[in-house]
Amino acid sequence: MTLGLFDDLPPSPLPPEVLEPGAMVLRGFALAQAADLLQAVQQVAAQAPFRHLVTPGGLRMSVAMTNCGKLGWVSDRSGYRYDRMDPDDGQLWPPMPALFKRLALEAAQAAGFEGFAPDACLINRYAPGTRLSLHQDRDEGNYAHPIVSVSLGIPAVFLWGGAQRADKARRIALVHGDVVVWGGPARLRFHGVLPLREASHPLTGAHRINLTFRKAS
Ligand code: SIN
Ligand code: FE2
Repeated sequence: MTLGLFDDLPPSPLPPEVLEPGAMVLRGFALAQAADLLQAVQQVAAQAPFRHLVTPGGLRMSVAMTNCGKLGWVSDRSGYRYDRMDPDDGQLWPPMPALFKRLALEAAQAAGFEGFAPDACLINRYAPGTRLSLHQDRDEGNYAHPIVSVSLGIPAVFLWGGAQRADKARRIALVHGDVVVWGGPARLRFHGVLPLREASHPLTGAHRINLTFRKAS
């Protein structure tokens, strides 16, 4: 069946799913650009390969990470920080692709945060079994800016917690193309990712790629 009259209209975006004031899930927001985003991720990773960072406590993180943009998030025995250089080779991080900046700006705007101009994009790669324990994003210079988090590839269960680590966390299913934005009163919420289940996606194989945009300086 065709809808005649409506054939020329762009698909209308789904309304945001509000987790709490300042935090929402934009379902499918990155879907149209997903293949281009993943191609850009490959280009970044060709220059700055994915690696497993070590926490200040000496544990190897199960999530593999790299970065693009002016600043990259890194962790080692001395702590967590943002650095202009990739510690593996002493080079600047690859620049943030224009496509990334535009998507981050538009997603933030759709969530009610105007003028978001990220200078850091952390790229997380998860395989089945990989998890990210509850944490706050608090290494950035100022919390006035939101976090924009883009999910690509195989599904994950995102944990949306509270202001304290011990607060009960909600489980939010995230799939390819979903974007989560949190800022304002929700900026310092605890969040994490449950261990991924075995799965395969045509664009990423057995991986989930997450792009986390921040204004770090
Ligand atoms: C993060 O908190 O850095 C990543 C969250 C996610 O992978 O969805
Ligand atoms: Fe985080």
